[in-house]
Amino acid sequence: MSSAPTTDAVRSILADIADPESGRPLTDLGQVGAITATADCIAVEVGLTSHSAILWKQTRGRIEERLRTAFPAVPTVTVTVTPHERAPTKLGQIGLEAKSVIAVGSGKGGVGKSTIAVSIAIGLARAGSRVGILDADVYGPSVPHLVGLEGRPAIQEGRILPQQLDSGQPVDPLPHGLAVQPMPIMSMGFMVPPGEAVVWRGPMLHGAITQMLRDTLWGPLDYLIIDMPPGTGDIALTLSQVLPLSGAVVVCTPQDVALLDATKAIAMFQKVNIPVLGMVENMSFFICPDTGKRYDIFGTGGAERTAKELEIPFLGEVPIQIPIREHGDAGKTAANYDDAQARPYLETICSRLVGGLAARNASAPPMPSLPTL
Ligand SMILES: Nc1ncnc2c1ncn2[C@@H]1O[C@H](COP(=O)(O)OP(=O)(O)O)[C@@H](O)[C@H]1O
Ligand SMILES: [Mg+2]
Repeated sequence: MSSAPTTDAVRSILADIADPESGRPLTDLGQVGAITATADCIAVEVGLTSHSAILWKQTRGRIEERLRTAFPAVPTVTVTVTPHERAPTKLGQIGLEAKSVIAVGSGKGGVGKSTIAVSIAIGLARAGSRVGILDADVYGPSVPHLVGLEGRPAIQEGRILPQQLDSGQPVDPLPHGLAVQPMPIMSMGFMVPPGEAVVWRGPMLHGAITQMLRDTLWGPLDYLIIDMPPGTGDIALTLSQVLPLSGAVVVCTPQDVALLDATKAIAMFQKVNIPVLGMVENMSFFICPDTGKRYDIFGTGGAERTAKELEIPFLGEVPIQIPIREHGDAGKTAANYDDAQARPYLETICSRLVGGLAARNASAPPMPSLPTL
């Protein structure tokens, strides 16, 4: 009969696996619970945060695999994941409680930036993370339309009560301890009647963005996703001054001209010290619903090549599909996750984004607090 592994030996395996939020060893921040180790069975309890909800399943599988490899003589390995609370800290002078603030930008309009921004937010929320959306495209706010919300938000003691989006339920039930939370959304589109043009001057723009960030009752968030206006650096500059951003996602289409614009957008973010977390290629290809044949309407692989050249992560591609446009027009962007064709592409982007954040957190010092403005 083989001898039983020690709990210390099991723990040393867990010490070699990174927490998918902090990137630090699971044993560092009190995330390892009970460990049982006998000749017949290894059972461990690991606490993970809602920030990494989309990676729970993958992380659990990885821990199991590592334990099985390390202790091949033990027939049963069970890993139980439980929620581990880790509250967000207040960011910058505005006191936003969020762990990751992610700007979604592009060099030009019409590449599907808002669709991708909203889809990323919904994908993370459906996995069980607490997510909010700030529509910072004050020139052409389209988030209200994409999610089917309207009307002026109520004001409570000088704070804005944001509209709340129901992101819908995931196809597979969430792990115990996770739930889909209502998503607070704030947009200039809720404040200005549709069709009414606003001419923004620099200081007004800065004021409007700061006010939406500071005065909205977001509640504690894992992620704030910011839908940026195309091109111009004004809002990126404002954001970089108001709070520490985790980084930016740049959306483009595979066409050369769109890629050139994306390269400019990347340079713009880097100029204001916002790290680029990765690139998404939207409208990458078309699968004909009648024949199943793939058409590379705008060429193929351009964004992935550009990302490689610029040494930034490539987060994934999204096909051009009639339902994605229909869902957007109907204010039901969340339905992209009920669509078996679109879902895997969107989920891949969300997972890679969250995985990349953990890797960055592991190598970077904690977020600096900003000097007083
Ligand atoms: N992958 C896609 N497949 C089909 N239609 C898309 C896709 N991505 C975006 N669209 C549509 O393209 C239009 C522009 O998208 P939008 O997200 O508003 O772009 P942007 O914010 O870059 O201006 C919308 O009608 C949207 O529904
Ligand atoms: Mg837009």
